[in-house]
Amino acid sequence: MSAGVGQGPGQGQGPGGNPADAGVHDAPGGRPGPMPGLRARHMSRRDLPRVIAIENEIYPFPWSLGNFSDSLEAGYDCWAFDDESGALVAYAVVMWIPDEVHLLNLSVAAPLQRRGLGRAILEWLSADAVRRGARGMLLEVRPSNLPALRLYERSGFERIGVRRRYYPAPDQQREDAWVLFRRFVGQGEQGEQGGPEVGGAR
Ligand SMILES: CC(C)(COP(=O)(O)OP(=O)(O)OC[C@H]1O[C@@H](n2cnc3c(N)ncnc32)[C@H](O)[C@@H]1OP(=O)(O)O)[C@@H](O)C(=O)NCCC(=O)NCCS
Repeated sequence: MSAGVGQGPGQGQGPGGNPADAGVHDAPGGRPGPMPGLRARHMSRRDLPRVIAIENEIYPFPWSLGNFSDSLEAGYDCWAFDDESGALVAYAVVMWIPDEVHLLNLSVAAPLQRRGLGRAILEWLSADAVRRGARGMLLEVRPSNLPALRLYERSGFERIGVRRRYYPAPDQQREDAWVLFRRFVGQGEQGEQGGPEVGGAR
């Protein structure tokens, strides 16, 4: 997808693209999301001020506006998740590489963290990727990011590598990235977490 809006998952044709190109299977404007009260839709440029506000609040080294613009431009799957009032409360960016997905960003607004949104969204993204033929999900995480690490480890991710000095860190230092991978159960089949319609909501 070129900018997310109006195109469904499976249209991702960023670097590497999605050879499965499994087609559109959602409706622009939102659809039942990862858990009750949370709707999923494609992020648009109009969302970026809100996204950046959340990003700046929750990360010591946040993505820039340019990072999000580039992600939209590149055709990555950029998801926005709205609460029942329509407020954007979480977002995610997923890049398709030939038969895997690379989770580039998963974020929940600070006041709503630790209420199950992160896990529900991760399972929803995973189920979507399974349905579209991905064999697994890759991501990088700071070893110091214990909440995220715990979430990923409990969700079946395993450490497969380390990227040395990958992230900026305080005092001009660098921090390694741990590379985590979660192999999905049966490409193209419904995995153990269920489909996006149920989304692993819990
Ligand atoms: C990481 C993040 C996405 C998790 O989302 P969340 O909605 O807060 O997480 P959930 O409530 O779904 O919790 C899922 C699991 O994550 C782990 N977890 C989440 N927050 C945690 C915390 N503060 N401390 C320890 N573990 C935590 C737990 O294992 C939790 O399961 P449990 O409650 O059954 O123990 C969210 O904290 C966030 O946006 N953090 C800032 C951005 C970030 O670091 N993103 C990840 C980049 S790799």
